[in-house]
Amino acid sequence: METTKKTVRVAVTGPAGQIGYSLLFRIASGAMLGADQPVELRLLERAESASSARLTGTMMELEDCAFPLLHGLSAFRDPVEAFRDADYALLVGARPRAPGMERADLLEANARIFMEQGRALNASASRDVKVLVVGNPCNTNAMIAMKNAPDLAARNFSALMRLDQNRAEAQLAKKLGCRVADIERVAVWGNHSPTMAADVSFATAKGEPVAGRLEAAWLADEFEPVVAKRGGAILAARGASSAASAASAAIDHMRDWALGSGERWVTMAVPSEGEYGVPEGMVFGFPCRTENGVARPVEGLEISEALRARIERNVAELALEAEAVKAFLP
Ligand code: NAD
Ligand code: LMR
Repeated sequence: METTKKTVRVAVTGPAGQIGYSLLFRIASGAMLGADQPVELRLLERAESASSARLTGTMMELEDCAFPLLHGLSAFRDPVEAFRDADYALLVGARPRAPGMERADLLEANARIFMEQGRALNASASRDVKVLVVGNPCNTNAMIAMKNAPDLAARNFSALMRLDQNRAEAQLAKKLGCRVADIERVAVWGNHSPTMAADVSFATAKGEPVAGRLEAAWLADEFEPVVAKRGGAILAARGASSAASAASAAIDHMRDWALGSGERWVTMAVPSEGEYGVPEGMVFGFPCRTENGVARPVEGLEISEALRARIERNVAELALEAEAVKAFLP
C-alpha cells in the first residue's frame, strides 16, 4: 500500500529471543501500528555470541520478507543508541523463568536491565515514547524503568497484562460456547503473577451480563486459577515460557494504545494515579480505555468486597517487590 505517513521508530530489546522471533515480523508487517504506517526497527541485543548469531539470522529473514512497511532495520548493543528518538519501545529482553521458578524469582536477575534501560530512554527516546515492558516480573520492571526516567511522563510506561485478559476471554468463550469476539469487559487487575485478579463481574457476552450465568465453583476452582497459572502450565508443557501468545498480546497492547480502544476495555498495567485505592506510581493492571495515545483506567466502577480484597492482595505483593528492588531506584 502507498503511504504518506512519516516513518516511526520502534525499538525492541531481546530480538534474538523466542518472543522476539514472533514479534518482529508482525510489527514489520503492519499488524501493530496499521497497514499504512511505515516503521524503522531498532534492535537491542546482548553482545553474547549465540544471541548475536541468532539476531543476524533473524535480520536476514526480516529482509527476506520484503515487507513494504519496513523502512529501516538496525542492531545495537548500546541502549542509548537503540532508543534514540524511539516512538515506541518494547522491552522484552530479560531472563525468562525456568521450571520450578515463580516470576518474582527473576527480580534480582532482571532489575539492573530495567534500571539501565530506563536511564537510556530518559537520555535519548522521543519525549512521547510509548514503552511496553514484557520482561518479567513485568509490573515491577516497568516501575524500575519509569522511576529511572524522570524526564519522561510516568504514563509513557506500561507493562504487559493483555496476555492475561486474552487468556481470560478465551476461557470464558469456551465455557459459554460463544466467540471471543462476543465477549467484552473482562478485566485482569493487579500483578502479572498468580495473585492477579481475573474478573468477570462486569463482563458481557453479546452485550448481556455473564456473571449470573457462571457458577461460583467454576469461577473459583477453574477460571481464576487457569488464567493466573497459565504461564506456569505452558512452561511445564513446552519446557519454555509462552512466546507466540506473549508476542501477540504485546501487539494487541501497542495497537490499542496507539490507535485507540474505542469503548472496549483493554487490560494494561499502568502507573496508578490513585485509582481504586492503588498507591500512586504502582504499575498495576487495570481495565483501561485509550484515546489519542493516552491510556486511562476506566473510572467509577462499583467494586465488590471480594474484588476489593483481591486488589489489596496485589497491592501488598507489588509493595514487597518494590521493597526488594530498592537498590535499583533513584
Ligand atoms: P528468551 O531467553 O528466549 O529471550 C530473551 C532475549 O533477551 C535473549 O535473546 C537475550 O540475549 C536478550 N537479552 C537479555 N538481556 C538483555 C539486555 N540487557 N538487553 C537486550 N537484550 C537482552 O526469553 P523470551 O522467552 O523471549 O522472554 C523474554 C521475557 O519475557 C522473559 O522475562 C519472560 O519471562 C517474559 N515474558 C513476559 C510475558 C508477559 O505476559 N508479561 C509473557 C511471556 C514472557
Ligand atoms: C506468561 O504468563 O506466560 C509469562 O509471564 C511467562 C511466565 O513465566 O509465566
